[in-house]
Amino acid sequence: MNEKLTTASGIPYASHEDTQSIGPRGPLLLQDFILHEKLAHFNRERIPERVVHAKGSGAYGIFRVTSDISRFSKAKLFNAVGKETRIFIRFSTVGGERGSADTERDPRGFAVKFYTEDGNWDIVGNNTPIFFLKDPKKFPDFIHTQKRDPHTNCKNPTMTWDFFSLNPESLHQVLFLMSERGTPYGYRHMHGFGSHTYSMINASNEVVFVKFHFKTLQGVKNLSAREAGELKSRDPDFAQRDLLAAIAEKDFPQWQLYIQVMTAEQAGEHRFNPFDLTKTWSQADFPLIEVGTIQLNENPANYFADVEQAAFSPSNIVDGIGFSPDKMLQGRILAYPDAQRYRLGINFNYIPVNRCPFMVANYHRDGQMRTDGNGGAQPNYYPNSFDTIQQDMAYKRPAEHTRSQTLDWFGRNAPGEDDHFSQPGIFYRNVLGPEGKEALAANISEAMSGITGPKREEIINRQLCHFFRADIDLGTRVSNKLNIDLAGAVHH
Ligand code: HEM
Repeated sequence: MNEKLTTASGIPYASHEDTQSIGPRGPLLLQDFILHEKLAHFNRERIPERVVHAKGSGAYGIFRVTSDISRFSKAKLFNAVGKETRIFIRFSTVGGERGSADTERDPRGFAVKFYTEDGNWDIVGNNTPIFFLKDPKKFPDFIHTQKRDPHTNCKNPTMTWDFFSLNPESLHQVLFLMSERGTPYGYRHMHGFGSHTYSMINASNEVVFVKFHFKTLQGVKNLSAREAGELKSRDPDFAQRDLLAAIAEKDFPQWQLYIQVMTAEQAGEHRFNPFDLTKTWSQADFPLIEVGTIQLNENPANYFADVEQAAFSPSNIVDGIGFSPDKMLQGRILAYPDAQRYRLGINFNYIPVNRCPFMVANYHRDGQMRTDGNGGAQPNYYPNSFDTIQQDMAYKRPAEHTRSQTLDWFGRNAPGEDDHFSQPGIFYRNVLGPEGKEALAANISEAMSGITGPKREEIINRQLCHFFRADIDLGTRVSNKLNIDLAGAVHH
């Protein structure tokens, strides 16, 4: 049977293209409500874009356990080798708007939602194991420098490098960003990281700290700065097209999930703060432990419904997985649901892509766009004598013990927390090959040559000091490319 065209309220009608008018040449009649409905709906099609990570691509898939980690976690999704859990992933760039180019130099978001029987678990990570910051209070200032200048409405390298140079803790991630990993070849050829330190809790309520790593099974592939620039104009939606086409052609992208594990004792004795998001944990000391694979095998039928309306949050953790004292993680627990209440409305968890497919039972009621029946005739308060919803004490989380009992505003880069240079130095010397080093220095000098204005020299010199402190060769290469007279600068 052919479907009839109807209004939003289901009334079939016949005049979709021509508005009722007085005479064939108008004017129009106010009573043609179909015109109003069409224009009014159209006027309200846009919702706020994500304040960061606005441009992205998503797909559904499967997580499959390949190795038993029940000694670390009692999370049900890990409780049998071979067990499968449906997932939804959204990849993204960070700084650009919803229509910006996919090949911008930027970290890439790597957000995974696992629809587990104990609720939805999200890892809202990046393609980098580290971040620019270690205190969430700094996030708005930082992002302002990555977005548009308030006066010119253009991207502004002066404010970007002013911020980087004034916040040396950003150096590790700056090197990552400026290397060829800053322009990955689409989303299939990059690793993903939970980045933060999380925890895992086993059936005996023993807690360990963990980091999550997703290793691409497609192999790492990056674009050179020239290729990325060329693609920006030729195919700004390159990564979207690449992911969609691969899945449509049944070339399903896959990643292997690993964890690194650190005990509380090891954390207490570690040579640096293991909850500092600007640092990695050495894989020699904390080797990767296999967990499972993820495979993306289903393109969403409708981009807006599933990808634009997806809401990921680090606060979505399930039984067997926990937080850590990582300050950035703590800040994000608050930020994401708050952003989503604004962007999607208070009932965003009922949108199909966000909804737990197994069970939702609580006393939240009403609010805009509550379309799921709103609890029907069931009581809307707890405790009550009528329904059967109970708190299950089996889900109680173990008590935690803090190392310090002093409340204060502690300097994030105070002595003991101020080694911003050792790991960037290792990254430069040991991770990058000769070509990678050269590309890094070229990308940095290209970006820094955009610094302008009266503070140009001051900003450049301050940032060069950070490069030199990480590695003399790196500092020298960047200085040479920027034509800085080192002898003069040293005497200065
Ligand atoms: C304190 C630091 C941070 C704050 C306050 C923050 C805040 C936000 C906010 C408000 C959004 C938009 C959420 C939405 O509208 O749905 C977002 C998106 C996102 N953030 Fe963060 N962020 C922080 C750090 C990080 C870090 C360290 C990572 C990665 C390790 C990260 C990864 C992401 C990703 C992947 C998305 C996009 C999720 C999606 O695809 O929908 N963010 N962030």
